[in-house]
Amino acid sequence: MRKNIVAGNWKMNNDTKETKLLLKEIRKGVKKAALKNTKVIVAPSFVNLNTAVKVLGNSKIKVAAQNMNAAKNGAFTGEISADMLKSAGVKTVILGHSERRAYFGETDAILKEKVDSALEQKMKLIFCFGEELNDRKENKHFELVESQIKNALFHLPETSWKKIVLAYEPVWAIGTGETASPEQAQEMHAFIRKTVADKYTAEIADNVSILYGGSVKPTNAKEIFSKPDVDGGLIGGAALKAADFLAIIAAI
Ligand code: 13P
Repeated sequence: MRKNIVAGNWKMNNDTKETKLLLKEIRKGVKKAALKNTKVIVAPSFVNLNTAVKVLGNSKIKVAAQNMNAAKNGAFTGEISADMLKSAGVKTVILGHSERRAYFGETDAILKEKVDSALEQKMKLIFCFGEELNDRKENKHFELVESQIKNALFHLPETSWKKIVLAYEPVWAIGTGETASPEQAQEMHAFIRKTVADKYTAEIADNVSILYGGSVKPTNAKEIFSKPDVDGGLIGGAALKAADFLAIIAAI
């Protein structure tokens, strides 16, 4: 059975002191909530991953990185490898976020390499994709999402899918306060699941968690998460306040 997941993508926010404070509050809240079949993940910046792993200790909350380089090691100034992440106790990485695609030129081909590298190094991944407003206006959103998934993931063997979580994040809903309606999210998530089922098997598609991301807040989380193909959320802004993040976790 697929898991419900609430993941906080902190982006470029929080110094070390703020990271410790926020994580302590989240840890306390998650412990009280005694969750069943729900996984909580936080993704602070690279420099605070070590701190996060220490603060969260043996709690159930997992730590993810927001990016990684596909290379094993070498002359790539400023980059971080999967080995480095693993040695810091981080076994999950977010790949394909629209901000990486838009501001750092990450193409489907680059992401395919990153996906391969992460899986080779036995990391789990949260793979993000989603259309821009124009794609939706031109009714190309399904086609676009299908191509993003296909180009980076459809060369993989069936066994790799145990390590993959998908995250649909329509770019027009990220940080804008505008969310996809629960119906729009469900429609796209069902399409994604069918796309995976058509390429692989119904069982693989049934078992893959598909998260929604884009202006999820305590006020709209419950309605979005209630949709059958929405298995949780990838949360940006609202993951930076413990009370909001915990309320979103409670909504699942
Ligand atoms: P917001 O929740 O701030 O819209 O960000 C979503 C996101 O990009 C998560 O990766």
